[in-house]
Amino acid sequence: MKRKVYLETFGCQMNELDSELVTGQLRALGYHFTGDPDAADVVLYNTCSVREHAEQKVWSRLGELRVRKRQQPGLVVGVLGCMAERDGTALIKRMPVVDVLCGPAELDKLPALLDNAFRTRAALLADEVDHGRAATTSASAVALAGNASRRSGTLAAAEDSLEMLDLSRSLRIGDEGPKTSAYVRITRGCNKFCTYCVVPFTRGAEVHRPPDHIVEECKRLADAGVVEVTLLGQTVNHYRFEHGAAVTVNGVTQPQKGRSYTGGHRRDPFSGESTTTFADLLARIHDEVPAIQRLRFVTSYPRDFGDDCLEVIRDHPRICRYLHVPGQSGSDRILKLMNRGYTVGEYLEFLDRARAFLHQPEVGRPLTIAGDIIVGFPTETDEDFAETVSLVRRARYKNCFIFKYSPRPGTTAFDRLVDDVPDDVKRRRNNELLAIQSDISDEVSREQIGRTVDVFVEGVSRREAKRQVRDKCSGQGTVGLTIGGRELGGSACAIDIEDDVASPGPMQLSGRTDGDLIVFFEAKEPERWIGRIVPVRIDRAERLSLHGVPVSNP
Ligand code: SAH
Ligand code: SF4
Ligand code: F3S
Repeated sequence: MKRKVYLETFGCQMNELDSELVTGQLRALGYHFTGDPDAADVVLYNTCSVREHAEQKVWSRLGELRVRKRQQPGLVVGVLGCMAERDGTALIKRMPVVDVLCGPAELDKLPALLDNAFRTRAALLADEVDHGRAATTSASAVALAGNASRRSGTLAAAEDSLEMLDLSRSLRIGDEGPKTSAYVRITRGCNKFCTYCVVPFTRGAEVHRPPDHIVEECKRLADAGVVEVTLLGQTVNHYRFEHGAAVTVNGVTQPQKGRSYTGGHRRDPFSGESTTTFADLLARIHDEVPAIQRLRFVTSYPRDFGDDCLEVIRDHPRICRYLHVPGQSGSDRILKLMNRGYTVGEYLEFLDRARAFLHQPEVGRPLTIAGDIIVGFPTETDEDFAETVSLVRRARYKNCFIFKYSPRPGTTAFDRLVDDVPDDVKRRRNNELLAIQSDISDEVSREQIGRTVDVFVEGVSRREAKRQVRDKCSGQGTVGLTIGGRELGGSACAIDIEDDVASPGPMQLSGRTDGDLIVFFEAKEPERWIGRIVPVRIDRAERLSLHGVPVSNP
């Protein structure tokens, strides 16, 4: 029997990548995927625990499944990811509808867990038929790292099978057509323990993947047509691989300020051990996989950036001049309570240093910076918030994710600090900061007018897709738009622009600059542009998006 899976992903890019790996792993075992939860035999949620709001979405989805499972008792429901790890079996107690729990560090075990769950459900149902009683016993399949994830003894073995999951990543072309953009994990877990954050508990200790594996994965992706790679880690620039050890746990941060890139990896003159730093890794991927035209990385930690790294970014043209380095707060007192390990002065000094190395708009290579801020952290006063406002003004982020503090059980802030900023104050601060950032984003956009920027063309813009659908398929319900077999959203009635119109007029396409700014432009024959990098002269800026004219044809 072909089992159909519906998989929904919440949370960060790390989860998006995990979902992709899970999909590949299950497809290889004969599972099929569907976008319609009602048509599925297996419903999986890959969850996020970072804020309470993220968890609430999953609770409500699970609540809805309770009714459905009464009508379809064979349905298997799985909760994967950070919420599974954080809540553990308490989650099943609260929601007995859940059959499978699988933490982010255990995803390689998912096929076995699903098998188990199917067998158990079948046995329970048979039991119900034999004895005429309802199958109320919820026998669940559970794989969580629990506290073991922070112990190094078992870590090497556990990490090995997880490493296999990344390595065995399926490059099969999905329903969406060939992929041109991909994530590659370089670091798992986090050791920073910012006091508000669940990630060190859900993702476990920081572990750096061997550089050879990472380069190999990039090569395979490039061979399969990928031209844009985003490296992932919670503190991505903290990457450091000590050769000789199977895995590097608790990698010690070495200040690299002032050190120059020397190529390859370096050998410690005292121990003879060699190390691949983050700068080395970036240079290796850039040089060994030239087919990757754009190399990015997220998320950076403000304290761990050496000049060596900035030099490598500056001197390697295919590394994007884009940094996502969250500041979190503009108040030194709050940063200390958050255990961020830097002061506002140090953070701003870093931004200035990064701009000195990398901001070169005159040669068409501006640096753009994105940030994250938490408002309403315990004890945050109006004065602290005013300092955050001035940090945001000084930082001139391209965009900034602003979050209201959400107390997370198990974290130090939850245990030691009272969530004493009322919600309406959090909301007011959030809105005020959003408005300020929105003006700054606008200014950053407008600075691009008159520049010619390289745009990685991702597809037909959403607006264009809607327009095409309206014009050509009116009154037919949901419509799927495809160009040369590439799906652009929707379903039910598919129209192919090429088949449909002999010579369609210009269409609005969308893409991104290497600094992650969104660009729209008009062009004919979209299939010739999509997946390519083309120069576009910017002539108009709107909030968060640019409009321009291509300077040359692909
Ligand atoms: N590793 C990244 C961020 C991971 S979580 C880093 O350190 O920068 C993504 C963002 O969620 C964080 O940057 C932070 O701004 C926000 N966040 C994390 N925990 C939160 C909490 N308890 N309440 C509100 N926002 C939170
Ligand atoms: Fe969380 Fe801090 Fe680690 Fe980022 S660095 S994942 S905020 S603990
Ligand atoms: Fe959420 Fe886990 Fe990512 S808590 S932000 S999914 S690491």
